[in-house]
Amino acid sequence: DLAGAPQTILKKANLAEGIVEMRIRSPMIAKSARAGQFVRVLPTPRGELIPLTLADWDEKAGTIDLVIQAVGASSIGINAMEVGEAFTGIAGPLGQPSKLHRYEGDQTVVFCAGGLGLPPVYPILRSHLKLGNHATLISGFRTKGALFWTEAGERVDGLQKEFGDRLRVIYATNDGTFGVKGFVTGPLEELLKENAEGKGRKVAEVIAIGPPLMMRAVSDLTKPYGVPTVASLNAIMVDATGMCGACMVPVTIDGKMVRKHACIDGPELDSHIIDWDKFLPRFLQFKEQEKASMAKHGL
Ligand code: FES
Repeated sequence: DLAGAPQTILKKANLAEGIVEMRIRSPMIAKSARAGQFVRVLPTPRGELIPLTLADWDEKAGTIDLVIQAVGASSIGINAMEVGEAFTGIAGPLGQPSKLHRYEGDQTVVFCAGGLGLPPVYPILRSHLKLGNHATLISGFRTKGALFWTEAGERVDGLQKEFGDRLRVIYATNDGTFGVKGFVTGPLEELLKENAEGKGRKVAEVIAIGPPLMMRAVSDLTKPYGVPTVASLNAIMVDATGMCGACMVPVTIDGKMVRKHACIDGPELDSHIIDWDKFLPRFLQFKEQEKASMAKHGL
C-alpha cells in the first residue's frame, strides 16, 4: 500500500510559479516536530540532500507539509515528483526549535516573512498565538503573482479566524500590486517609530525569515531600537549535515568572533550578533555556484 508507506507524497499543489507544496506521509517526524525545525530530504537514491523547513505537520494523520521552490537542480527534481511517488529518505526533525516566550500586556511579536519565508514562519507564528501572545505578520512578496496562502480559507486566514484580533496581518509587495508598496522593512519601521513615540503595541521581538539581504535589513533596523531579533537562516544551508561548512555564520559573543553552523546551532540565530559584512558575500558566492549547477543541468 503505497499511500501508507513513509515518505510517500500524498498531496501536491502549485502555490505560485516554481513553488509547490507537498503533503508527505512521515509519522515519526510529525510526532516529534516543533516550530522552527526542518527536515533533510533525499529525493532519489543518487540525488543531493536538501534541507527543507517544516511548513506544517499533523501528528494524528502522520503527515508533514513542505514548501519547495525550484532554485537548484535537486529542488527542481523534487518539484517534478508526483502524488504516489516516495522520497528515498527524510531525516528529522533537525535544528533547534524556536524559543517561545509569553509576552504579557500590550506587546506583540512581529514576524517579517519575505516570499518563501512565509511557510517557515507559519508554525512559529501559530505557536506564539497558541501561547497567548499577540502577533503581527508582515508578509512581503515580489509581486501579486507571487502571492500564496493569502486567500480566504488559506493558512493565514485560518489563523486570523482562530485567533481574531490577536493577529494583525500586513501585506507588502515590492511593486505595490498588493498591500503596501515596498519591502517588509517599511511597515516594521512604522511600528518601531510608533513605539518610540509611545504609541502602538510594543514590539517585543522580531522574527525574520526570508532572503538574507532582507534579514539583514530587518536586523539593521531593529538594532538601534534594541528590539531582540532572530533571523532564521534556512536559506543558506546546503546539505544540513554539519559537514559541508556552507552554513557557517560568523557571530560575535562577548567580544569574541565565533562560528556557528546554521544547520546545527540554528536555523534561528540572534541577528544582532551576526557579522553580516563577512557572512553575506560568502552566501552570495554559494548562490553563484547554485546558478552554475542549474546551468549545467540545462535549467
Ligand atoms: Fe552543510 Fe550546515 S549546511 S554544514
